[in-house]
Amino acid sequence: MRKTLIAGNWKMFKTTAEALSFAEAFKKLYKDAGAEAEAAICAPFTQLSALKGAFAGTGIKLGAQNVHFEEQGAFTGEVSPGMLVEIGVDYTIVAHSERREYFGETDETANKKLHKLFGHGISPILCVGEKLEHRDAGMEQEIVSGQLRKDLEGLGAGHAASLVIAYEPIWAIGTGRTATPEQVDSICAFIRRTACSIFGDEAGAQLRILYGGSVKPGNIAEILEIEDVDGALVGGASLVAEDFIKIVRP
Ligand code: PGA
Repeated sequence: MRKTLIAGNWKMFKTTAEALSFAEAFKKLYKDAGAEAEAAICAPFTQLSALKGAFAGTGIKLGAQNVHFEEQGAFTGEVSPGMLVEIGVDYTIVAHSERREYFGETDETANKKLHKLFGHGISPILCVGEKLEHRDAGMEQEIVSGQLRKDLEGLGAGHAASLVIAYEPIWAIGTGRTATPEQVDSICAFIRRTACSIFGDEAGAQLRILYGGSVKPGNIAEILEIEDVDGALVGGASLVAEDFIKIVRP
């Protein structure tokens, strides 16, 4: 049974003071709502320690938005998997489309990061998705399957249960334009089939697939009804506790 995961991606928003004020408000709402879904906040590195303390004992999970694939070394500005383990993060986003576009993330680096995160017991949230021009050309399956095959190379069935794949069509991120339920259904079923062909049917059925791209309180219910969707990766609407709780507990 796959547990629904609603992960907030704060991107480069919120100071520590703002993060703590969100945490205070969200903790209370989360408890009162009796939420069944697992909720996670993927925060900037500098907010992780403070949030770890603030979420202690609440069941709210913590995620980073990136990681380096080496243990340590002369990599100015980077953060290693061991440093994230020390803080106690549960998840780490890998290869978000903004990192692929602006920071040179490739399928090769994504693959190295996945191996390292699994080695450290952190669940990766691997982002895949096509650009508008590829969707318009009917190439979305080709693009997504190319990403999955390269990003997941060398991983085995034993990794599937703690792997999360977020399908985020790039044209739906921060644009207010959500993919239709039919589009999400079709590509997420395709992702499941691809995962089953990589890991085997039993393991492929265990990994969680999230949809991301302009998820809001008003559209989460129809997204969660889709068979192969096990949750959402939420950008803008995760920044306000009162909005995010309506997605965690529609
Ligand atoms: P959005 O972002 O919800 O603001 O569209 C989603 C994401 O980039 O993960």
